[in-house]
Amino acid sequence: MIVLAIETSCDDTSAAIVSSDNKVLSSVVSSQNDIHGIFGGVVPEVASRAHLDKISPVYHLAIEEANISSSQIDGVAVTIGPGLAGSLLVGLSFAKGLSLSFKKPLLAVNHIEGHFFAPFIEYKDLEYPYLALVASGGHTALYIVKGFRNYEYAGKTRDDAAGEAFDKVAKLLGLGYPGGVAIEKFVGDYEGDIDFPKPLEKERDFSFSGLKTAVLNIVKKHNKLSEDQKINIASSFQRTVVDILTEKTVSLALTKGIKNIVISGGVSANKLLRKKFENLSKEHNLKIYIPSPKYCTDNAAMIGIVGLNLLSKGIIAPPTVSAIADWDITDIVV
Ligand code: KG4
Ligand code: ZN
Repeated sequence: MIVLAIETSCDDTSAAIVSSDNKVLSSVVSSQNDIHGIFGGVVPEVASRAHLDKISPVYHLAIEEANISSSQIDGVAVTIGPGLAGSLLVGLSFAKGLSLSFKKPLLAVNHIEGHFFAPFIEYKDLEYPYLALVASGGHTALYIVKGFRNYEYAGKTRDDAAGEAFDKVAKLLGLGYPGGVAIEKFVGDYEGDIDFPKPLEKERDFSFSGLKTAVLNIVKKHNKLSEDQKINIASSFQRTVVDILTEKTVSLALTKGIKNIVISGGVSANKLLRKKFENLSKEHNLKIYIPSPKYCTDNAAMIGIVGLNLLSKGIIAPPTVSAIADWDITDIVV
């Protein structure tokens, strides 16, 4: 079984070819970081126009790198939500066109579902149930994954997503975009000593806007920050986000008696986060599954893994299916 997957929910244009047993034959991602970097964040209108320019070459490259012909494709998977409406529509229209011309089923995938199935690409021993932390630019939430299409919310952010906080703090400090990558690079091994607040410490939900405001307040206190002050703020901020994400996730896994933890979404590319999760997993006898950084950030390969599951179960989307910008993962409608 071979599935072509398309992902355009935010600012990465991606196409991938995957085959049975979760093998990735090709995965092409064209990032728009340079375009949005000028604005310090994703500009939706600019993103959808860039997807229009890139989707066709990205698709052709994915076919070429997989060394297959389009006649070998058994299904076309595409992210239909959640995400930016205009961006989603570019990918969905393109996928519909291919599905019609190949006369192959269209498979409608939830972007978050893609993130928590990404580990299946590299780990063959991952078993249900598992706790999935998805921490990206648009989402930060915990889910209990009991099986395919059997998901339960276990906590989510009440305001900003973790990646959004990274992006906003990096912008405040003039470090560049994407903020998580810029902060990680700027900080290196430096260990900051500022004690930032950890909102909702005793609850399952996350909150990052207070932390961002705490950074803003320090920045406002100074006319001009020295490089030493900047690195101290950035490093302390990074450590606080990492502590919040790891402590809540591990505490929930222990309370629920769930041994397997999956970490995914752009923020899970963070080295400090990965190290802390690995240390905690040893300490508490948990198994941590974190995809390689290229499968943590947005990519079509993870969408293809969900597509393979949909195809094998015969869950086919009608040609009239629309993009659902706010599609809640626990509200599967297709
Ligand atoms: O999953 P993703 O590629 O796109 C969304 O679905 O949002 O995540 C992008 C987010 C951005 O906010 C970016 O700053 C953050 O992930 N990110 C990181 C790192 N790499 C990307 N955050 C912390 N450390 C990183 N290394
Ligand atoms: Zn994502």
